[in-house]
Amino acid sequence: MRVLLSGGAGYIGAHTAVALIEAGHEVIVVDDMSNSSPEAIARAGSLAGAEIPLLGADVRDEPRVRAFVQQHGPVDAVVHFAGLKAVGESVAQPVRYYDVNIGSAVAVLRLMAAESIPTIVFSSSATVYGRPETLPLREDSPTGIDLANPYGKTKRIVEEMLKDAAAADPRLRAIALRYFNPVGAHPSGRIGEDPSGTPNNLMPYVARVAVGSLERVGIFGDDYPTPDGTGLRDYIHVLDLAAGHVAALERAREGFEVYNLGTGVPVSVRELIAAFGRAAGRQIPTAVLPRRAGDVAASYCDPSKAREGLGWSATRTIDEACRDSWRWQSQNPRGYAPSPR
Ligand code: NAD
Ligand code: WQD
Repeated sequence: MRVLLSGGAGYIGAHTAVALIEAGHEVIVVDDMSNSSPEAIARAGSLAGAEIPLLGADVRDEPRVRAFVQQHGPVDAVVHFAGLKAVGESVAQPVRYYDVNIGSAVAVLRLMAAESIPTIVFSSSATVYGRPETLPLREDSPTGIDLANPYGKTKRIVEEMLKDAAAADPRLRAIALRYFNPVGAHPSGRIGEDPSGTPNNLMPYVARVAVGSLERVGIFGDDYPTPDGTGLRDYIHVLDLAAGHVAALERAREGFEVYNLGTGVPVSVRELIAAFGRAAGRQIPTAVLPRRAGDVAASYCDPSKAREGLGWSATRTIDEACRDSWRWQSQNPRGYAPSPR
């Protein structure tokens, strides 16, 4: 199958590109490089042993994307990663988030109609559940409870749009994958997560502390009703996540479907920091801070629907994710940026 990855130069996209090529598929990428580097695609191509065609453009630039698809097509499926993903920033810049995240999904669906592409896999998020009423989260758990951030709302709206589009066109295959907390890196240490500025998410923050570029990890609250008082999350290795996309593309059926992609194993903030310390062979300095606004005490999934429907389940542990994240961080302390002369 030939697959267009929108936002394919990003963290999850680059790992998925490698997994798809290794599974015998072809990949082409459109990415406006607003949060990535062409170096990620060059390295993904060299890891997978293939040249990956890359269009540096906004996926909403419909004429350019269509010409690119016609040049490299026919395309069988789109994996739509492109979008903005910082929860806090979405509260400060809601219109920009609605514009990019919804506009890019509309553009992709229009492209698919114009080029007769039947299949889309969409990067949704566990954020759509809002504040969990019961755990573990299942795909039929209620969404949107106390969902205060525009980022999460854009994910819910795009899921609804895909459902409506599939209802109107019985040939459409649309799968929304609700990722839990993606972590880790390719075991080669060649590709990984490269957030610009100070990381918002726990694992890349811990990695920067371990490498010495940040002083200590702030633990956002140790008074939650959890075993050690810190927040519980479902951290999924990015290679497992990438394999989930391959499975979704290969198993997609007509209609709209949604799947959780997680491990089902809750891990606390303190447990993650301890695991990273073991992987890096050093003590990670910490300080307990107040709770972060909008955080929930615990979020983890029941992954059985993906196991049954996609034949997929996560196999990697938090220790493997920390080891791979540490290898990436220590070998590329400045991410994809060229080393200073
Ligand atoms: P990322 O920022 O590394 O990747 C997104 C890519 O999209 C970037 O390379 C960026 O340059 C590109 N992009 C942004 N707007 C674009 C546009 N208009 N046109 C073309 N390219 C554009 O993020 P990621 O972590 O790889 O996430 C991929 C997707 O998964 C996103 O949709 C994100 O919301 C979703 N997601 C991520 C997480 C997470 O924690 N990483 C969790 C759940 C869902
Ligand atoms: C994990 C845990 C924090 C940083 C976010 C988005 C979600 C999804 C994944 C896109 C929590 C604690 C964190 C720090 C800390 N992204 N923490 N100190 O908030 O579960 O999910 O990323 O879809 O939508 O909301 O991930 O990594 O920020 O936090 O103590 O410096 O680590 O309180 O318990 P989160 P996270």
